[in-house]
Amino acid sequence: MSERIIPLVDHRHSAIAVPTPVAPRPPTGVLTDGLGRPLRDLRISVTDRCNFRCSYCMPKEVFDKDYPYLPHQALLSFEEITRVARQFVAHGVQKIRLTGGEPLLRKNIEILIGQLAELRTVEGEPLDITLTTNGSLLERKAASLKAAGLQRVTVSLDGLDDAVFRTMNDVDFPVADVLRGIEAARAAGLGPIKVNMVVKRGTNEHEIVPMARHFRHSGVVLRFIEYMDVGATNGWRMDEVVPSAEVVRLLQAEWPLVPLEAAAPGETAQRWGYARPDGSWDQEAGEIGVISSVTQAFCSDCNRARLSTEGKLYLCLFGTQGHDLKPLVRGNATDEQLAGAIAAIWQGRMDRYSELRASLPPDVAARSGRRIEMSYIGG
Ligand code: GTP
Ligand code: 5AD
Ligand code: SF4
Ligand code: SF4
Repeated sequence: MSERIIPLVDHRHSAIAVPTPVAPRPPTGVLTDGLGRPLRDLRISVTDRCNFRCSYCMPKEVFDKDYPYLPHQALLSFEEITRVARQFVAHGVQKIRLTGGEPLLRKNIEILIGQLAELRTVEGEPLDITLTTNGSLLERKAASLKAAGLQRVTVSLDGLDDAVFRTMNDVDFPVADVLRGIEAARAAGLGPIKVNMVVKRGTNEHEIVPMARHFRHSGVVLRFIEYMDVGATNGWRMDEVVPSAEVVRLLQAEWPLVPLEAAAPGETAQRWGYARPDGSWDQEAGEIGVISSVTQAFCSDCNRARLSTEGKLYLCLFGTQGHDLKPLVRGNATDEQLAGAIAAIWQGRMDRYSELRASLPPDVAARSGRRIEMSYIGG
């Protein structure tokens, strides 16, 4: 095991028990947490497995053949997930993102998408249903995902150089297959497509400009993510973070950029448009985004709840313990009781890890706490 990799301590088994509310109030469609933040975005992890071993997420030394993935009977069924999601929607959720691990590894994921696509927001609108994938199975699955009711996809891709990409995914997966997956998603109408690139100093920062050049004028929105101290196994160090300000400077040197307004409240990315000579946004050239969780925390309007594969509700990506909804889901709690339990949990939420980290020396913050893995809870 390399020195930098920190062995995994399994925190998934410690969970916060959720009491069944005695007299729950029916959902009103608006639910705010302890810091006044509404609940709008539900991220559902459908598997903790992945066919890649990105070193910043699932280092091979930890996620080897002996790693204790969740057993099948622990996973929520599609019906159970949909029932939980329905309660979240009644509290005002408008967007559902399926994540993993790699969500396309979950068998018959199209069936779940079909069930979620039938839900309606409090205003009676269809939900924004999307999925974050590594793209490896997208060429094969794009059409069936669209037919099931998926609206769009976000594809993770850390570089265009085949050697760099094969090293980063650490399973020798070729970049061409992911690019074909993106094309298939476009052909199937799963747009607007976003591509997420995690930037790690010394590994792929030389891919920033080539990636931007490739996706400029393509209709794909490329977003650069600061390498985060999420989880506890990736051996994160501040000196491997490329601050978004540096990414923007690099791109500005090639193409003038203009800042754009956030597309939705609580959005993770700061958007930049490619500029015309007169300084206006050239929409045909498109936009890029930077996600700066390390250098510019965006907790103040964080509206995201995360449901793990086995039914634990996490209130922050950097959480240490989830609220275990499964006993309610599998017991005889009514929908109103389930919704009431979710309301009580969200109303007590005070999480703002990235903001708090900013007040600590970064390497100290990264070592503190016993955090869940990104492969377990999703992006
Ligand atoms: P859209 O629905 O397309 O706007 O997606 P999004 O902006 O929510 O982005 P996405 O789900 O693709 O998340 C992008 C990346 O941002 C993730 O892979 C994470 O690395 C990071 N991220 C997302 N949500 C959070 C969050 O709540 N906190 C932190 N610190 N990082 C986040
Ligand atoms: N820092 C930033 N982003 C990460 N992701 C996974 N681990 C990290 C990390 N340590 C991203 C992936 C993918 C999404 C699921 O989360 O690249 O885009
Ligand atoms: Fe898999 Fe995504 Fe994690 Fe890479 S970042 S190991 S593709 S879940
Ligand atoms: Fe939300 Fe936690 Fe991320 Fe802050 S660190 S934006 S509270 S998930």
